[in-house]
Amino acid sequence: MISSLATLESQIQAEDLHDAASVEAFRIKYLGRKNGLLTDLFSQIGKIAPEERKAYGAAVNTLKQLVEARLTAAQAFVEAAQKQAVAQAIDLTLPGRMQPVGGLHPIRQTMEEIKRIFLSFGFGVAEGPEIEEDWYNFSALNFPPDHPARDMQDTFFVEAPNNENGGVVLRTHTSPVQVRTMQNTQPPIRIIAPGRVYRNETITYKSYCLFHQVEGLYVDEQVTFADLKQVLRMFAEAAFGVGVKMRFRPSFFPFTEPSAEVDIWWQNEDGSGRWLEILGCGMVDPNVLENCGIDSEKYTGYAFGMGVERIAMLRHGITDIRVLYENDLRFLEQF
Ligand code: PHE
Repeated sequence: MISSLATLESQIQAEDLHDAASVEAFRIKYLGRKNGLLTDLFSQIGKIAPEERKAYGAAVNTLKQLVEARLTAAQAFVEAAQKQAVAQAIDLTLPGRMQPVGGLHPIRQTMEEIKRIFLSFGFGVAEGPEIEEDWYNFSALNFPPDHPARDMQDTFFVEAPNNENGGVVLRTHTSPVQVRTMQNTQPPIRIIAPGRVYRNETITYKSYCLFHQVEGLYVDEQVTFADLKQVLRMFAEAAFGVGVKMRFRPSFFPFTEPSAEVDIWWQNEDGSGRWLEILGCGMVDPNVLENCGIDSEKYTGYAFGMGVERIAMLRHGITDIRVLYENDLRFLEQF
């Protein structure tokens, strides 16, 4: 009997335990409740001669320990192998997914480009608040009290006008920065003022309730309309290329006299085209200079205010202003 146990021991040692299935089959073969080889040997203990029983029991127990030791080792091995297989299932040669990289919005890019051009002409940069007193946005700029631009249709009011003042508004243009600059500085003044402005307008393909302007102001002795034309032509050539077609059209603003608007020729691919307005400009009205404490006998100046969205649309062939405000990545990723 003991010698057949010895055979069983070498058989247990020789079992090939290489995967989960073979480990489980091994467990059932030796320790299964029904017909497990060791289970059977334990149940036969009653048939063993009493004087041999003790040695028999000890020998079978040793075999059981051996089976259990092999089981523990094999289970650990199988688990490790499974983990390794999962790790190897990750294909390290696959190209990684790119993290999207943020970029400057086309409006910001255009604004930076306009700034770059005017800084190269020797202009400085000034800024003012977007929430503005009526006096800066309208009165100081020579808007008569009943001027239609003050109408609720165009202006977002933050504080309603009362008997003492015109109230507080979201600035409808960057021209109030002219006023603030002239109040604080004596000529020569040569600044641009980039910023956001607001108008209560119906949203269409060409107008939005907020947009961006870059204001320009040059005040010194003997500044003339010729200087204004020259600087705007230099700007247009820098922004749109030397062959750009532009025109000055007489216009009206309460704060400039004379006034003009500048159009840029938009060439379609089929050869047709049309003029697109990009800015208003003119010679600063002497009343405005005086309102800001500047001697209008001694000094003259020019001013202009350009629409950044219009320029971005021209430069990139964008036909609907609203795409600039929808934050659609498919659009923005093109810039
Ligand atoms: N502020 C004017 C506008 O918003 C533009 C402008 C600026 C015109 C400066 C003349 C001089 O339409």
